[in-house]
Amino acid sequence: MFHFVNNNKQELQLNEQNMPKHIAIIMDGNGRWAAKRALPKKAGHRAGAKTLENISQSAIDLGIEHLTVYAFSTENWKRSDEEVKGIMDLLREYLKNYIDRAKKDNVRVHIIGDVTRLDEDIQQQIVELEQLTKHKTGMSLHIALNYGGRDELLRAIRKVSEDVANGKYQPEEIGEEQLEQYLDTKEIPDPELLIRTSGEERISNFLLWQIAYTELSFTEKLWPDFTEQDLKQAIYQYQNRERRFGGR
Ligand code: IPE
Ligand code: IPE
Ligand code: MG
Repeated sequence: MFHFVNNNKQELQLNEQNMPKHIAIIMDGNGRWAAKRALPKKAGHRAGAKTLENISQSAIDLGIEHLTVYAFSTENWKRSDEEVKGIMDLLREYLKNYIDRAKKDNVRVHIIGDVTRLDEDIQQQIVELEQLTKHKTGMSLHIALNYGGRDELLRAIRKVSEDVANGKYQPEEIGEEQLEQYLDTKEIPDPELLIRTSGEERISNFLLWQIAYTELSFTEKLWPDFTEQDLKQAIYQYQNRERRFGGR
């Protein structure tokens, strides 16, 4: 599993002692994948959902503890009604399939983002899936839906302000650890590695707080074309970087 052949046909080995515990992925490029094939956008999103299933399994096989994937941003509502509806229908399908096979799986599914803006039936599916999988001991799959890093921070700041107003905290008692308790990612370690597909080299409002010292890996591959080999390539890159955290 830890052995792979890269795009230049070199045989490489991942260091099992230095695997990231948490990998985050900006799954980008579904639209371009569909356009290249003269298919409707929804076909690209469908192919992307299939890739997510494959890559989750690869991450499990590699012993990754947390996988956080960006599925729908707070800005993605700006897209056409048709595209948003297509994505939401695929989400319903994905969640339903997951609920049906959740028993067999040892994955804990957790949603980050402001789910209150999603349709009621999707919110119910989310509650059901989180409930069904909350005691699972394998990998945690965190799916970002209607997620924005700024929105997450704003929601956290509002809650902190309430707790300060209620007298639970003095303002000077709020440190990084306290603030983290108000984030959607509380109790999840920061990702060591963030991958973005499709050649775009930006963060697009993903995990702004959590990626302060994360290693970034960008690939030209469009998300539906992303493979286990590409995941290993990104981990290999990560393992060959020197992380300094501001020190010497
Ligand atoms: C990512 O693919 C999926 C979502 C943002 C929902 P895109 O739909 O952004 O694909 P491109 O960037 O248009 O190729
Ligand atoms: C980021 O991709 C959001 C997701 C992958 C869900 P976008 O395609 O929305 O980002 P921009 O618009 O290229 O920055
Ligand atoms: Mg995009």
